[in-house]
Amino acid sequence: MNSTGKPLIDAAIGLKPSRYPVWFMRQAGRYLPEYRAVRADHDFVAMCKSPELSAEVTLQPLRRFDLDAAIIFSDILIPCIGMGQTLTFDKGHGPELNSPIRTLKNVSDLIIPNAEKDLGFVGDAIALTKSKLRKDQTMIGFAGAPFTVASYMIEGKGSKDFTEVKKLIFRDPAIFTNLLEKLAETTILYLKMQINAGADIVMLFDTWAGQLTPDIYRTMVFPVTNRILSAIKQEMKIPVIYYPGQGSDKMYELSNCSADVISVDWRTRLGQAGKILREVGLNVTLQGNLDPQALLAPEHVLRKYVNDLKLEAINASRNHIFNVGHGLLPHIPPESISTVIDELRKC
Ligand code: CP3
Repeated sequence: MNSTGKPLIDAAIGLKPSRYPVWFMRQAGRYLPEYRAVRADHDFVAMCKSPELSAEVTLQPLRRFDLDAAIIFSDILIPCIGMGQTLTFDKGHGPELNSPIRTLKNVSDLIIPNAEKDLGFVGDAIALTKSKLRKDQTMIGFAGAPFTVASYMIEGKGSKDFTEVKKLIFRDPAIFTNLLEKLAETTILYLKMQINAGADIVMLFDTWAGQLTPDIYRTMVFPVTNRILSAIKQEMKIPVIYYPGQGSDKMYELSNCSADVISVDWRTRLGQAGKILREVGLNVTLQGNLDPQALLAPEHVLRKYVNDLKLEAINASRNHIFNVGHGLLPHIPPESISTVIDELRKC
């Protein structure tokens, strides 16, 4: 197969990339003063709904750093708006969804959105951003995986112990399963819309899947999640990235995963993740997995961490996309991002 001209896509599909591909989860965010300046005047959801503001903050990190990808500025909970919920991000509170989903009636009242009509602002933001990218840069679209989005819909906000979610799983599994099904259907439409607007690859975030037992994950959660990955691969013919969140045990459940890339949390060694995935018969590219807090280290230490990870990656999988193991935090010094990229490009 010929190179696509985009190092990240080449790495994702198993071709030799022309340089070491790198991007950072939450690369658009509060650690950048220029983001905070925009955010000071705008509500978070309003920024997500404005294609111009979304494209502007998506591009901010690319103006500073030589990154291989832009990930569209949005949130995994944006589709919940299209499904009929009200989403708010009050400062210091994190996301909140009104009218939590706890009954079968709540689930059946949720709307399957018309992605173009109800969530088209995300597609417009993607098209606008893409028009400003270099040819070798990749446009990443994304969505939350059904379990992670469902956990916010059920709890109504973020949670430590996921009690309301677990109540449904263990007492009323039909409600939980119905919600996941509805979310899968929505997510397929939502991602297709993003791809039609110009996304070159899409990533599915299952940040909270680590809260589940391997059995619940295997029987109730992974199949409906993988249905999204397969549908996108088969119908849209573009590569997909899956982020299964915390817990190396999860890797044992991914034998028939349709993703091209598995994004690894920092609590698992890249080599260990690759070994398990090979054992279960999966030949994928790995992405990750620097601890985002390692970006606090002094420059010479950080350069060593980057090299350690590069060495670890050599035998871990067919290719490696450099990234953090979870999103960048507001207190990360932007200079650390430049250091990582500089060290990666040295080879
Ligand atoms: O990576 C990027 O640069 C793209 C944008 C992006 C955001 N959220 C922007 C955001 C992406 C890919 C997400 C995904 C997301 N959102 C996830 C999955 C990945 C992960 O990080 O675990 C989850 C669980 C959410 C839900 C969410 N959104 C939470 C829990 C919070 C509050 C925590 C926080 O950092 O404030 C958000 C808010 C959010 N999403 C911000 C950004 C830039 C901060 C909003 C602000 O400016 O106040």
